[in-house]
Amino acid sequence: MLSVRKTFIAGNWKMNLSRAESVKLTQALTAAFSADSAVEVAICPPSVYLDAVAAIVRGTSIGLSAQNMYHEASGAFTGEISAAMLTDIGCQYVILGHSERRHILGETNSTVNQKVQAAIKGNLTPIVCLGETLEEREAGSTGTVIEQQFDGSLAGLTSEQVAQIVIAYEPVWAIGTGKVATPDQAEEVHADLRRLLESRYNSSVASNVRIQYGGSVKAENAAALLTQPNIDGALVGGASLQAESFLGIISAAA
Ligand code: PGA
Repeated sequence: MLSVRKTFIAGNWKMNLSRAESVKLTQALTAAFSADSAVEVAICPPSVYLDAVAAIVRGTSIGLSAQNMYHEASGAFTGEISAAMLTDIGCQYVILGHSERRHILGETNSTVNQKVQAAIKGNLTPIVCLGETLEEREAGSTGTVIEQQFDGSLAGLTSEQVAQIVIAYEPVWAIGTGKVATPDQAEEVHADLRRLLESRYNSSVASNVRIQYGGSVKAENAAALLTQPNIDGALVGGASLQAESFLGIISAAA
């Protein structure tokens, strides 16, 4: 099947960098990244720096993503941020259901699902994260966990809506640990996800939805992962905090 999926590399800065460092990193990326790149690129700064970063990426081909949002449109939700607020300051994407939010901040498939629905309604592209823990992998339940997270996080969406999302497979044991999944381990889960997209929706959704891999991606291991048939990009944490290493991953993808 001829793939129409454009490789998508996103840099998730998590709760790192100061305002000045965020500005400097963004300037270095916009200066080096060419508009006609075959790779789609987005950066995901902490929410308080989104506005400052938006002013630098505006008019360039680097996209802007938030790391989280709340599903309600507005109201008495202290500390939360809506989809409309994110698009208002120039975001095109939002990461949802990252494992740190699931495991540290208590998000469930059902809260992730509410957010995915609100993001799509609010014209944001959700990057929906899922992945098994080490315990789950060792117990042989990776497939079941992935399927439950997939079904739970995407419940109630139409095929047209699912066609607009990005999925990020991030094995929890590989995040921030330096322990990257082998290309074969990652490809196996990506292929399963592709089959789920086909069986739950249709073949056009399955062939169009991009599935990123995340977990200790670096310039040195990116090419081996990204040349797998069902790996369409990377969600990068630690290696996205420096221009040189993030640009190295983008070059490996191109
Ligand atoms: P890492 O994080 O690249 O630092 O492992 C990946 C992620 O959590 O998205």
